[in-house]
Amino acid sequence: MRITRLALQDFRNHKETVLELDGRHVCLFGANGAGKTNLLEAVSMLGPGKGLRAAALPALVRMNGDDKASGWALSANVDDDGLNRRIQIGLENTPDGRSKRVAKLDDAPVSQTELAELLRIVWLTPSMDRVFAGPAGDRRKFFDRQVLAHAPPHGRAASNYEKAMRERNALLEQPNAASAWFAGLEARLAENGAVMAYNRARALRRLQAAIDARPDGYFPKADLALDGPFERMAQEGASLAEIQQAMAEGLADGRARDRAAGRTLTGPHRTDLLVMHRPKKLAAAQCSTGEQKALLIGLILANAKALLEGDFAPNPLLLLDEAAAHLDSDRRAALYDELAALGGQAWLTGTDAALFDAFDDRTQRFEIVEGSARSV
Ligand SMILES: Nc1ncnc2c1ncn2[C@@H]1O[C@H](COP(=O)(O)OP(=O)(O)O)[C@@H](O)[C@H]1O
Ligand SMILES: [Mg+2]
Repeated sequence: MRITRLALQDFRNHKETVLELDGRHVCLFGANGAGKTNLLEAVSMLGPGKGLRAAALPALVRMNGDDKASGWALSANVDDDGLNRRIQIGLENTPDGRSKRVAKLDDAPVSQTELAELLRIVWLTPSMDRVFAGPAGDRRKFFDRQVLAHAPPHGRAASNYEKAMRERNALLEQPNAASAWFAGLEARLAENGAVMAYNRARALRRLQAAIDARPDGYFPKADLALDGPFERMAQEGASLAEIQQAMAEGLADGRARDRAAGRTLTGPHRTDLLVMHRPKKLAAAQCSTGEQKALLIGLILANAKALLEGDFAPNPLLLLDEAAAHLDSDRRAALYDELAALGGQAWLTGTDAALFDAFDDRTQRFEIVEGSARSV
């Protein structure tokens, strides 16, 4: 799976940018604020969800002082195992003055899950640098992104789960809510939550296997664990139905406690991802910033590899924003060698063209200047 052409219209600071790609990895360089990350964000928007900045869709509309475009549009041609397909994503205004996301594949409407089946996208951005030291919710989000690349229906299960949980939390506020109402919502929570736990456990197993298979090198191995009772059940071989039942019972038993707390206290929305730096036998949160970054790069590379080896999943797109900037030249060269060996298509950004020298002719380079791209 490779992008062969990418066109942006009125997206962030790109008025009209077109990249014609020849199938190699892609390096984008240019000054701060030129629009490099915006380009990676555009690629990330081709898949399901909100993209790598998790921005609201209207925030992506190009603004220039008081001059605001009416919507944005992305178009990508992808080479799907020899087949040329066209993805179009955009924000369009509806007659009633609102705006909505439209997505098309080969000119026909397409769902988020179908897009996720077609494009497996993983990314690494500077904002993830604190993921090990930050709150559990950040790690959960980070990990769920990795899971989504393995199991596209994970996204739908997670959003159904969130929705049912919000409704249950609202119900907890009502002193006279009938228990049948709880039971209905809890059944939905358990159905979707069990799928989430199951997908996470399976993705974790694949990811850990890919980490274990990596050569020892500059990007240290991590030992991963999911800290959540339902993921643990899945890891111990429980069936989906068993996890679902345990979750539904846990929710029913916990109503009084949850009412006192004002929110739902058990479930996969509380799970944490535990990460250990294997060579140091140290929790990732206690590692230096540089070590955490190296761990993260190793994780993302391993996940790309795990995706390549998974069933019939297409090759992943790997978006690495500013990943090279803080690596010394040996580590940079090691990263590029790994990417070259990996296959798939990697997109990298950096301020300076020289950062990509060790890539030689294994990449295609573009200079980004004030929202436009020039092939160099
Ligand atoms: N909706 C928008 N319309 C126009 N410009 C935008 C919009 N959103 C962000 N920008 C501009 O895009 C630039 C940042 O681009 P970015 O891709 O993050 O830069 P970099 O090349 O450093 O990665 C900033 O100058 C920012 O103001
Ligand atoms: Mg940037």
